[in-house]
Amino acid sequence: MYNLLKGKKGIIFGALNADSIAWKVAERAHQEGATFVLTNAPIAMRMGEINKLAAETGSEIIPADATSMEDLENLVEKSVEILGGKIDFVLHSIGMSINVRKGLHYTNSNYEFTHKGFDVSALSFHRVMNVLYNKKAMSRWGSIVALTYMAAQRVFPDYNDMADNKAYLESVARSFGYFFGRDFKVRVNTISQSPTPTTAGSGVKGFGGFLSYAEKMSPLGNATALECADYTITLFSDLTKKVTLQNLFHDGGFSNMGISDVIMDSFMGADE
Ligand SMILES: NC(=O)c1ccc[n+]([C@@H]2O[C@H](COP(=O)([O-])OP(=O)(O)OC[C@H]3O[C@@H](n4cnc5c(N)ncnc54)[C@H](O)[C@@H]3O)[C@@H](O)[C@H]2O)c1
Repeated sequence: MYNLLKGKKGIIFGALNADSIAWKVAERAHQEGATFVLTNAPIAMRMGEINKLAAETGSEIIPADATSMEDLENLVEKSVEILGGKIDFVLHSIGMSINVRKGLHYTNSNYEFTHKGFDVSALSFHRVMNVLYNKKAMSRWGSIVALTYMAAQRVFPDYNDMADNKAYLESVARSFGYFFGRDFKVRVNTISQSPTPTTAGSGVKGFGGFLSYAEKMSPLGNATALECADYTITLFSDLTKKVTLQNLFHDGGFSNMGISDVIMDSFMGADE
């Protein structure tokens, strides 16, 4: 390892189980010398898995529902206290759509569900940054990262209302990122990750097909959760100080592909 985060303090949202992207980020951040607080929705804590990660990384856990300002204020105040100073990095790794979970088609959304999913998956990023900004809790040259997916730019029908949530999330990274950069020299970026087999990812209809299609389209193949964690670490490190307001594709090249040989081959003979 490279000691890239030696002495840095962070908050990591969204480690649910060992498959979670946030879980891998926590493990890698620990290996790179960071100390951090782990947080997740109180309901997710009941599964108890996060305790293992906390023990492994020597971290404290502070439950917070990312839709509650009260919870987020408590989280940030306590984190600064526990870590003994301002925060150098924050990972927002949160996503949930009730329309997806209940199998409702995009053209027949339940708007209560849409509201809830938007609050959890998208507005929560604004809330987190609001609390960090107003409490002046971020260190100079700190870094904030949220995870997103390319359905924010292109149509993936079964991604449902999460596509709209991700478009908002990416926009907020730019809008809030401006003020964070101007006032605190803090950078804000989103990482647009390949489809990844996690609890949230596997909830999308036809996820298996989705995964193998992306694998066959990408010259480097799909990026794994661990590879995503590695990339995230670089964005938390001092090696990327002037990267901000960006949506960064971490997808083995998928986002710039039109067609690959393997996909083309599967259509050979169609015009004969
Ligand atoms: N898995 C993929 O294919 C993929 C691809 C691109 C981007 N992403 C994004 O990566 C991020 C992490 O997802 P993942 O794939 O690791 O799945 P995951 O299911 O492991 O993580 C989602 C997390 O969101 C948390 N969460 C849900 N409601 C919450 C709330 N109210 N308050 C706080 N936390 C809450 C869950 O407890 C869970 O820990 C999400 O933003 C997701 O959209 C995932």
